[in-house]
Amino acid sequence: MIGIFDSGSGGLTVLREVREQMPSADILYFGDIKNAPYGSKSTAELGMLTASAIRLLQARGATSIVSACNSVSASLAVSLFDALSLTPDSLIEMVGPTVSSFKESPARLLLAATPATIGSEIYQNAFRMIGKEVGTLAIPDLASAIEFGSSEEEIERIIRDAFVGVRVGDFDVIVLACTHYPLVARLFERVLGPVPLYDPARAVGERVKRHLWPREVADGMIRFIVSKDSQYFRDRVTTLLPEGGYSFEVLD
Ligand code: DGL
Repeated sequence: MIGIFDSGSGGLTVLREVREQMPSADILYFGDIKNAPYGSKSTAELGMLTASAIRLLQARGATSIVSACNSVSASLAVSLFDALSLTPDSLIEMVGPTVSSFKESPARLLLAATPATIGSEIYQNAFRMIGKEVGTLAIPDLASAIEFGSSEEEIERIIRDAFVGVRVGDFDVIVLACTHYPLVARLFERVLGPVPLYDPARAVGERVKRHLWPREVADGMIRFIVSKDSQYFRDRVTTLLPEGGYSFEVLD
């Protein structure tokens, strides 16, 4: 069973791609809504939350883990592999697949992400390894506004304020390096006009298939666990899986 986790709804964008690539995999999704947003937390806090999310998924039978949260990427250190009995091919995260997608590309990239992701410099360093300098833009409050159902006007205002002083024309692609952001791609477009947005979820889904097929082929069952109930989260799940057929559990 593949365990996927995020602070809340963002990882559903990754779940959608994993389903697309491996419909027969059993998936256990953990949304840590009680501790959302992750993107404003310290590295120490994120380390603890990452370890407990992975432990929870493993305790409920996950044999592979997908971190559908960019903000915790810096916490996925090699030491975690030993501590949680993970092997490199049983943990898939966001940074590697995203950076690999631009290996051959001359595109000038602007990375839009949470303060935790930008502050960790994990993407900047990974892109440097393939000889690329990228622009960065931390957007405080955006993931939280999306998670907790702010109005479209409020979300547009947050995006607009964040881009003040950014010359969008200096970039060919804006990488949405927070899994919550593709949920409001439409609003990015409304504020910024027709600039190509890149959603890493597809590359992560492909990586999942490459590493976990056929090992994780099963019955296509989906189970959601959240650390706090949220109608916004439930609504997004219904939109994603209108045919139903999944189970839902709220931890107390
Ligand atoms: N969706 C997560 C990410 O990709 C976390 C966002 C948040 O909770 O701040 O960074």
